[in-house]
Amino acid sequence: MTTPDSAPTTMPAFPSTFTWGVATSAYQIEGGATADGRGPSIWDTFTHTPGKITDASTGDVACDHYHRYAEDVDIIASLNVDSYRFSIAWPRVQPDGSGAWNEAGFDFYSRLLDKLAEKNIAAHVTLYHWDLPQALEDKGGWLNRDTAAHFAVYAAEVARRFGNRVATIATHNEPWCTANLGYGTGQFAPGMADPAAAVSASHHLLLSHGLAMQAMRKLNVSAKLGIVLNQWTATPATDSAADIKAAEVEWARSVAWFMDPIFKGSYPELALANNDCSLLSIHENDFNDIRQDIDFLGVNYYFRAFVSTETPPRQPEFKLGKTDMGWEIYPQGLTELLVKLHAEYTLPPVYITENGMAVADQLQDGANGRQVKDQPRIDYLKMHLAALHDAMQAGVDVQGYFYWSLLDNFEWNSGYLRRFGLIYVDYDTQQRTLKDSAHWYRNFIKEQ
Ligand code: FCB
Repeated sequence: MTTPDSAPTTMPAFPSTFTWGVATSAYQIEGGATADGRGPSIWDTFTHTPGKITDASTGDVACDHYHRYAEDVDIIASLNVDSYRFSIAWPRVQPDGSGAWNEAGFDFYSRLLDKLAEKNIAAHVTLYHWDLPQALEDKGGWLNRDTAAHFAVYAAEVARRFGNRVATIATHNEPWCTANLGYGTGQFAPGMADPAAAVSASHHLLLSHGLAMQAMRKLNVSAKLGIVLNQWTATPATDSAADIKAAEVEWARSVAWFMDPIFKGSYPELALANNDCSLLSIHENDFNDIRQDIDFLGVNYYFRAFVSTETPPRQPEFKLGKTDMGWEIYPQGLTELLVKLHAEYTLPPVYITENGMAVADQLQDGANGRQVKDQPRIDYLKMHLAALHDAMQAGVDVQGYFYWSLLDNFEWNSGYLRRFGLIYVDYDTQQRTLKDSAHWYRNFIKEQ
């Protein structure tokens, strides 16, 4: 594999059965923060705490998708995609995270599913995209083992109601982020900065995944059940023994830490030796609970880890530049990652559930109407789809690709300052404008 210097001029053909989609998550687009009985989540608390979000914004309104979902589904359909990945806000359907269900919340998702069905768009649902009901956080959040049991009850209720109306249900989105950014560094809600807490939270997240899988399986629904993990390969910055070792540790602590319990029923030794496990409490049956067959694995890929033991750390060459997040553009990392996963685990079918680029997009409103010329995003898409195709040629069973994101949206602690969408959102007017990349994606899918 060599580093591409630029986007390919001709695109490879994907199988006719391949799923093409776009992705979003509840807190980032819905708004309607107090509408129709929704309870507060840890992200409501976090965004309303001064100093946490770069532009001091919140998800109170976001893209107002809660009220504009019908228009948004029409836009999705206009992109020629056949699938839409979104998340259910747990506090919208169960305001306290345990106890009473909120029928008005379920009604919203039911209307959304109706509208998607009308447009022939398959629904790919995520149960947890980081918005824990605040009432559960008040009892310790993911540091409290009971949260895993509550999550399984919630998962089963969603599967009971919607399990025959959706194509897939993923338990978690990126538990690495929930644990490490939410509890380890404090960059994300709930904002705790304790590496030992992150390890404990990650175990309860994995347990909650396993308990939810078991609870949903009992219902015999048609939806495929799985999980979405954010993953990267770890490239040693040099061929020094120290960098090589550090890269192995990085892989063990980030990727294998979540993959091994699910696929092998244990934590990797190298990670146990390098994590602060002082708060980790593994009960006797936990690995049996966590190690459940999954029907699909969702992989979110944005960048690689470039691992250096020097001070300051040695940087990659950034041959293809950086995104507006400052993330290295490294498409062949997607090939490398998938090939390595395929070599180390017996994988179920894989979906790329997220991949995309933040660009400092400018809306132009001139004689040609409203336009956003986002050629860097088109190049990013082309290079990553070519890299994905390479992995499939190498034997990895990948069944779909979801661009992150459908809409510009609330990018967590960056607020509205980072734009990932195929669709530009003017937050003052809520007007949506298809960027050039949306037109490119639409035509590319049509030609497949
Ligand atoms: C992923 C998240 C998603 C979005 C992208 C840019 O880590 O799952 O919500 O913020 O990054």
